[in-house]
Amino acid sequence: MARKKIALIGAGMIGGTLAHLAAQRELGDIVLFDIAEGIPQGKALDLSQCGPIERFDAKITGTNDYADIAGADVVIVTAGVPRKPGMSRDDLLGINLKVMKAVGAGIKEHCPDAFVICITNPLDAMVWALREFSGLPHNKVVGMAGVLDSARFATFLAQEFNVSVRDVNAFVLGGHGDTMVPVTSYTTISGIPVDDLVKMGRSTKERIDEIVKRTRGGGGEIVALLKTGSAYYAPATSAIAMAEAYLGDQKRVLPCAVYVEGKYGLDGLYVGVPVVIGADGAEEVIEITLDDEARQNLQVSVDAVKELLVACRQIDGSLS
Ligand code: APR
Repeated sequence: MARKKIALIGAGMIGGTLAHLAAQRELGDIVLFDIAEGIPQGKALDLSQCGPIERFDAKITGTNDYADIAGADVVIVTAGVPRKPGMSRDDLLGINLKVMKAVGAGIKEHCPDAFVICITNPLDAMVWALREFSGLPHNKVVGMAGVLDSARFATFLAQEFNVSVRDVNAFVLGGHGDTMVPVTSYTTISGIPVDDLVKMGRSTKERIDEIVKRTRGGGGEIVALLKTGSAYYAPATSAIAMAEAYLGDQKRVLPCAVYVEGKYGLDGLYVGVPVVIGADGAEEVIEITLDDEARQNLQVSVDAVKELLVACRQIDGSLS
């Protein structure tokens, strides 16, 4: 069987980390694409030279030509401008929308059968725009946010309860941003809901509320520390988990930004929900029962995403 082909659009901090992780896991041959000349070629060469030491067989190439992503099985998109300190994800909208238009056209022309994972922010609007511009089926275009947000939530909870991160199953819904909805009733430590652990006196509602707040601002906390960029290790590893679920038809249930129509009272919108990821891409959205508070919070999140879509349509009249 021929090797799979992984195209990474954007060879910046996340793109380079994605290439390294994909090579280490031998997901396939890797093409790094960027508009900046020399960057994808240089990173590809550097990463190729890890092969003899890390003992991976993956061909890694860099390019500025969309023709080189032809036939890619998976495309992961990080092209765009990352958030700078003081800049909200939404400030990025205008710049990154234009980038999505170019990337969408490149995918449409060269690899219309790929599974596409978008990381560029503001995520829920960019993944929607990328789907519109590329014309791919909705199940083949998803956004990476929930895996990262729930990993952040799980990290903080493991610290709070002093348990292994492996035993924390954190559940986050909604848009990627300050309105995301960490759901504590579905968040467990080895099956024990966090709400029950609070009742047992192992933490307090106030401390869990603080953790929820920190999770919502998890990206901003890192931006403030780095000063010249945004997070890249955890975003990259989150997207790789999604790519592996698709390539291996793993049927993993992952929180992803997917097109939701009919479920959660939504009528055609990209937002973070639990979804089965397998060989058909986003195969099935799983609708859970939400309590009133989570339902209201989800609505706030959905309204924020809708506002962004209105703004996108105002910027680019070709978006229906
Ligand atoms: N086509 C291809 N690549 C592009 C384009 C374009 N039209 N415009 C910009 N790029 C490239 C840049 O040249 C840069 O190499 O995208 C890359 C982005 O890399 P970084 O600036 O290092 O950003 P990174 O930290 O990787 O984050 C990427 O993820 O978190 C989100 O909002 C964030 O949009 C950002 C994305």
